[in-house]
Amino acid sequence: ADEFDYDVLVIGAGPGGYVAAIRAAQLGLKTACAESRETLGGTCLNVGCIPSKAMLHASEYFDAAANGSMAKMGVKVTPELDLDAMHGQRRESVKSLTGGIEYLFKKNKVTWLKGRASFEDAHSVIVDGQKVTAKNIVIATGSSVTPLPGVTIDQKVVVDSTGALELPKVPEHMVVIGGGVIGLELGSVWRRLGAKVTCVEFLDQILPGFDGDVRKEANKIFKKQGIEFKLGTKVTNVAVNGDKATLTVEPAAGGEASTIEADCVLVSIGRKPNTDGLGLEKIGLTPNNRGQIETDHDFRTSVSGVWAIGDVIPGPMLAHKAEDEGIAVAENIAGQHGIVNHDVIPSVVYTWPEIAGVGLTEEAAKEKGEIKVGKFPMMANSRAKTNHEPDGFVKVIADAKTDRVLGVWCIASVAGTMIAQAAQAMEFGATSEDIAYTCHAHPTHSEAIKEAAMAVQGKPIHI
Ligand code: FAD
Ligand code: NAI
Repeated sequence: ADEFDYDVLVIGAGPGGYVAAIRAAQLGLKTACAESRETLGGTCLNVGCIPSKAMLHASEYFDAAANGSMAKMGVKVTPELDLDAMHGQRRESVKSLTGGIEYLFKKNKVTWLKGRASFEDAHSVIVDGQKVTAKNIVIATGSSVTPLPGVTIDQKVVVDSTGALELPKVPEHMVVIGGGVIGLELGSVWRRLGAKVTCVEFLDQILPGFDGDVRKEANKIFKKQGIEFKLGTKVTNVAVNGDKATLTVEPAAGGEASTIEADCVLVSIGRKPNTDGLGLEKIGLTPNNRGQIETDHDFRTSVSGVWAIGDVIPGPMLAHKAEDEGIAVAENIAGQHGIVNHDVIPSVVYTWPEIAGVGLTEEAAKEKGEIKVGKFPMMANSRAKTNHEPDGFVKVIADAKTDRVLGVWCIASVAGTMIAQAAQAMEFGATSEDIAYTCHAHPTHSEAIKEAAMAVQGKPIHI
């Protein structure tokens, strides 16, 4: 409409925002996207998913050479770490992918408004001193690191995930505060490159939100790899002295304090939605008590014309969830029916092996009704065994009456890739029998999903 500069203005060019902007433009809407960072792609491309995977992939090679698993297959090498080159390839990947989004914006005629956006009213924002108006405004401002009260992140001795991606040398002793996804992924990177890693987790198990068996098995595997865990433990103080830190920890339940010395401390206790400085008060939008912007199923906020997606709204803080919401919100703005099925959002930890799940945990499924569970160990999967990857399992959880698949959990080298078939099966309303009678190529890790489904029926072949 001519009364506005744009049909759609998206605030933030992360996986939520840039995808929303591209789809809106594809649907014929005049679209702009405000982004204050130097490059597009948000947390995910700049300091999140992509650079962390670049470091995980490269350090996996180093570890395979260093820990003897290559020698076991007849490839003897003594690895030498060139950390600068490793960081170089990480930066190259990030640069080419963020540049790719810029290309896609041009191709789709999305205007990039460079600068921070702040609301003036429900149809206008100020970006870089300029007022810009739009019929629809999508908030896709993402999230940032949750600070630990009393602990200053200096990005040298005490780092967050961004600092931990860029350490100029391998720490001697890295203490990771928080045994969640970031702590385990980035802890793994530096452990592989030679650091001693200690993980302090407040709860009595790592990886909250994951299936109970998966959490236990993952803990065992990481311990075997040399990560030390202090579970049920809280950090009460971090004192930095020069290039060393002393952490004071005590049992979460209360008890005697002790200290840990480290030359690197990673704070990874979660992320919080970005709403500061957005001028939400000017449009009468108040975040909930977790700081998130609430929306309805169509991603409409309580303010007409204002929508929100991604890490800034409730739900898992994942790039693919943000992307799917980006597509759905654009389609809804265009008058179509964009939907995201929040019950089927896969979640993957890119460690070695990978840890992945979709749908309900066994604990949550049990609370909802009677279930059947089938489990298959990767040790009995011919491909995993041949590749010398004995750790992990697949677990399929199905409704006892209808046999409908409610959740699938995997620990396997390629679990992140395997979980896509489980998500697709669940989207199609599959039963465990459907999976058990689907022909899977041999020899693949994915056969373990088929066998776990056969185990739900009580008749797996290879165990
Ligand atoms: P973001 O990606 O955070 O993007 C928001 C953008 O908005 C930012 O670029 C910010 O600069 C901009 N912005 C904010 N406010 C304003 C404003 N007022 N004006 C203009 N611009 C603004 N998820 C996965 O699914 N897989 C992974 O492997 C994975 N790995 C991760 C690893 C790390 C180390 C981290 C930190 C996160 C990881 N995540 C991963 C999470 C993932 O990065 C987020 O879920 C995802 O980026 C959320 O997308 P978003 O679009 O909602 O927000
Ligand atoms: P997280 O929520 O995954 O884990 C934080 C952990 O810290 C939890 O186990 C929590 O119990 C613990 N904790 C909280 N306060 C603590 C304290 N004071 N002392 C000790 N432990 C404490 O958060 P994380 O790892 O920071 O990651 C943030 C988000 O980024 C994730 O929730 C995820 O959505 C996203 N992400 C996704 C990745 C992926 O998909 N592979 C990779 C990295 C991040």
